[in-house]
Amino acid sequence: MKVIVTGGAGYIGSHTVIELVNAGYEAVIFDDLSNSSASMISRIESITKKEIPFCKVDLSQSSECNDAFNDHKDASAVIHFAAFKSVPESVQYPSKYYKNNIGSLINITNCMDEFQIPLLVFSSSCTVYGDAQELPVKETSPMLPPNSPYGHSKQLGEYFLKNLSSVNSSQIKSIALRYFNPIGAHESGDIGELPNGIPNNLMPYITQTAAGVRQELSVYGDDYDTPDGTAIRDYIHVVDLAVAHVKALVYMRSDKSNQDYEIFNVGAGKGSSVMEVILSFERVSGISLNYKIAPRRDGDISSIYAESTHTKKTLDWSEQYDLDDMTRSAWIWEKKLRDL
Ligand code: UD1
Repeated sequence: MKVIVTGGAGYIGSHTVIELVNAGYEAVIFDDLSNSSASMISRIESITKKEIPFCKVDLSQSSECNDAFNDHKDASAVIHFAAFKSVPESVQYPSKYYKNNIGSLINITNCMDEFQIPLLVFSSSCTVYGDAQELPVKETSPMLPPNSPYGHSKQLGEYFLKNLSSVNSSQIKSIALRYFNPIGAHESGDIGELPNGIPNNLMPYITQTAAGVRQELSVYGDDYDTPDGTAIRDYIHVVDLAVAHVKALVYMRSDKSNQDYEIFNVGAGKGSSVMEVILSFERVSGISLNYKIAPRRDGDISSIYAESTHTKKTLDWSEQYDLDDMTRSAWIWEKKLRDL
C-alpha cells in the first residue's frame, strides 16, 4: 500500500516514513524543503535500506500539487505534515501561515478526491485547545480561542476536514492527530530535529546550548502556578508519535472505524515542567546546562497535557519511551550531527 507523506523530509515526517516502511508500507515523500534538507531523504534511505521516491513540490500551488498527485495516483492514503509551525513567526506573518497551512490542505483534499485516494491523516496540535481550563484535555474538550495564527490554522484545518466529511462530493475519510510536544530522535542518531536558525522550541535549544552552539538557555518564566513554577507540557517521543500515524492508518482501514472524521490526542498523558526536562537532560548527558530564568514568553500557557485513553484504546497505541529516553536520543542526534 502506497502512502504519500507530505513534509516527509521534516522532523515528524521523516520518523513516520521510517515507521511506515518498517510496517510494510511503501512511502513517497512530497516536500518543498523549505524547512528541511534533502540530506534527510538519504538518511531515511540508509536507515530503511529502501529507495524512497521524492517529489519536490510546493503544495500550496494547486497546479504543482496536482502534478505531484498525478504521478502517484495509485496511492491509498496521505499523511499530511507539510505546514509551517513557528508560533512567533505566525504572529508576524499571518498570511504566510493561512496560505500555506490552509491552502495546501485544500489542494491536497481536492487531489485526493480527483484521484480517489480515500484516507487522510492530518497533523493537528494540542494548540487547538488554547488556554485549556480543565486538565488533562480530552478530545471532547472545547477549542478555545487560539494563541496564534498557527494555532488558528490548525483549528481551521480540523473544521475543514469535519465539514468535508459530511458532504457527498468528497469521499475522504480522515483522522486529525492532536500532537502534544514531540521531542527526541531516532535511535540511530541519524535523523532528528533540524531547526533552521535559532530554535524556538525547548529541546533543540537545550541540545544546541549543550553543544556550544548557543550560549545560554532561557527558561521562560518560573512564576507559573505549577509545582516548580515552570510551565508544563506533555512531551512525547517522536518515534512514539510516528508509530501513532501508522496505527491511525491501520485503524481507518479496519472494521472498527465507522466514522468519516475522528480526532485523537497523541501525548503520553503526563505533564513535565521545563525544569524537569532540563534535569532529565543533565542526568542522561552528564552535562551541567547553562541556563537562566527569563520572563514568560508571549502566548505561552501555564500547563497542558493529554487525556490519551481514547487513543490508546481505539488505536491500540501506547508510548514506549519516557522523558529520559527522549532527552538522551535528542542529545545523541545533536552530537552526531556536530561530530562531537
Ligand atoms: C508550541 C505549540 C505547539 C507547536 C509547537 C511547535 C502551543 C501551546 N504549542 O509548543 O502546538 O506544535 O510549538 O512549534 O502553542 N521554553 C523555554 N525556553 C526556550 C524554549 C521553550 O523555557 O528556549 C519553554 C516554553 O516556554 C514552554 C516549553 O518550554 O513552556 C515548551 O516550549 P516549546 O518547545 O516552544 O513548545 P510549545 O510552545 O509548548
